[in-house]
Amino acid sequence: IMNMSQKLALTPPMGWNSWNAFEQKIDEKIIKEIADALVRSGMRDAGYRYLVLDDGWLQKERDSKGILVADPVKFPSGMKAIGDYIHAKGLRFGIYEDRGKLTCQGLAGSYQHEATDMATFASWGVDYLKLDSCYAELNKRLSSDDYSLYRDEIAKTGRPMILSMSDFGNGAWAWGGEKIGQLWRTSYDIYPNMDSVYNCAETSTGGNVTHPAFNGLGQFAGPGHWNDPDMLQVGNLKTDTESRAHFSLWCILAAPLMAGNDLRKMPESVRAILTAKEVIAINQDPRGIQGYKVFKNNGQEVYNKPLADGTTAVLILNKSDKPAAITVPWELIGLMGRQKVRDLWLRKDIGTFEGSFTSPRLAQHEHVLLRIGSRGRPLPAPAPLPVERYTVTKSGVTYLSDLCYIWLSDLCYIWRRGNPPVSGLSARQEPLVLGENFYRKGLGCQGKSVMMYKINGRASRFQATVGLDPSNSPTAEGRFRVMEEDFFGNKMLFDSGKLRPDAPPKPIDIDVTNKGCIMLEFTGDNVLGTWAEARVVSK
Ligand code: GLA
Repeated sequence: IMNMSQKLALTPPMGWNSWNAFEQKIDEKIIKEIADALVRSGMRDAGYRYLVLDDGWLQKERDSKGILVADPVKFPSGMKAIGDYIHAKGLRFGIYEDRGKLTCQGLAGSYQHEATDMATFASWGVDYLKLDSCYAELNKRLSSDDYSLYRDEIAKTGRPMILSMSDFGNGAWAWGGEKIGQLWRTSYDIYPNMDSVYNCAETSTGGNVTHPAFNGLGQFAGPGHWNDPDMLQVGNLKTDTESRAHFSLWCILAAPLMAGNDLRKMPESVRAILTAKEVIAINQDPRGIQGYKVFKNNGQEVYNKPLADGTTAVLILNKSDKPAAITVPWELIGLMGRQKVRDLWLRKDIGTFEGSFTSPRLAQHEHVLLRIGSRGRPLPAPAPLPVERYTVTKSGVTYLSDLCYIWLSDLCYIWRRGNPPVSGLSARQEPLVLGENFYRKGLGCQGKSVMMYKINGRASRFQATVGLDPSNSPTAEGRFRVMEEDFFGNKMLFDSGKLRPDAPPKPIDIDVTNKGCIMLEFTGDNVLGTWAEARVVSK
């Protein structure tokens, strides 16, 4: 199979998607007007090339040959025609499907129609596929296998298509998303308010979805494969200040820029945000480094993104409701001495600064976005967390408490709310105790906790002793489960059933040969659970 995906999305994809503005209420007229508006507004020429029809374009039933059918009321001319219209405007055509039996809105899903659907899309001229995950847990396939199947079916059509993996942030970076598609969600759905915008951004900066040692998911992104904290709400937020903060965050995080507002009635101020040339250039920088946090204190944050030309982009943002001037010492961003500073929203050089830069007083959601330094040799990129810190690299025993978990149930993904495990101690920071024994190694959890470890096909056994901490109330109940990869795969390797604190500790010794990732799940309402000596053994 030809690997055509390699040349796609060398910089983060840019375009427009119908979901945030219209949800299911799209039709031929609206989509054509949006295509016109992409051109008229200057957005196409600013880089927004992909016009993507999200859920709601299709029918519940396939035709007698099993082919997907456009909703005949909304799209009477069919999908090939809308694709032709989009292409004639110098744009690219994107479409939504779901790898489950139904889409999230209950329309026809692609499960068991993968080859047919990819061929259909190719025949319609589709250039971009957003592939969602509702009902995918019924497929009984690992997400990595499921998405790989689509990648391969797309390749067989001979038509290059960007594959946007929409798995609501369940860890595509962990199981090798970069070899499968061009972008993957890092979060649950974004909504038009700043809490949601910041939560989604936080997933890409690592907060709550992976071990803090990673300092964000940046090391998993790069040309051709991007972390996707979801589509833009620019223009749907309350103020331009909010929209600008959202846009600058997505730009510094090298996130896909899929606009989600109604372009037909966009005020000039919103158009100006979405087409801000020097801001977009930060997002589209060919070096493709994802910006990372270099400072945070009570909602005051600084991000750094070293660029291809030797300068670096810096975002200084005040999320808190206390106005503040924020200082960036050059050593935080790999510089020293006197440095030139340019304000990218003002498009103005604002001077040369010695040792540091202090922003003006920033009210809540205000920020400055700067380009600092001079052209020349590129500044160093942040060092990735070394593989031995988060995967199995040696033979013999590797305790999971000595590894960084690669995924943790996302706090903004409400169904899977969880707490990070504690290494070597109970969640109350006390020694791990089960029955008569205490343990130096293991993971202590409290309440729901779901974490994934990357064992990289290197281990043959997973072993542990599990049980509830004796300090729990005698009626407390908890359950330990081990799954392969993420929960969509539904591949249960171990299930303790419900345990009480007085139950004898349960030993686990299971085969994990060739498994890429394992997911440890503890559930129990506020209960303390212990994975004592959780470890993998490799040859
Ligand atoms: C999911 C996705 C959204 C959108 C809707 C459509 O919730 O995460 O981005 O595509 O489905 O139903």
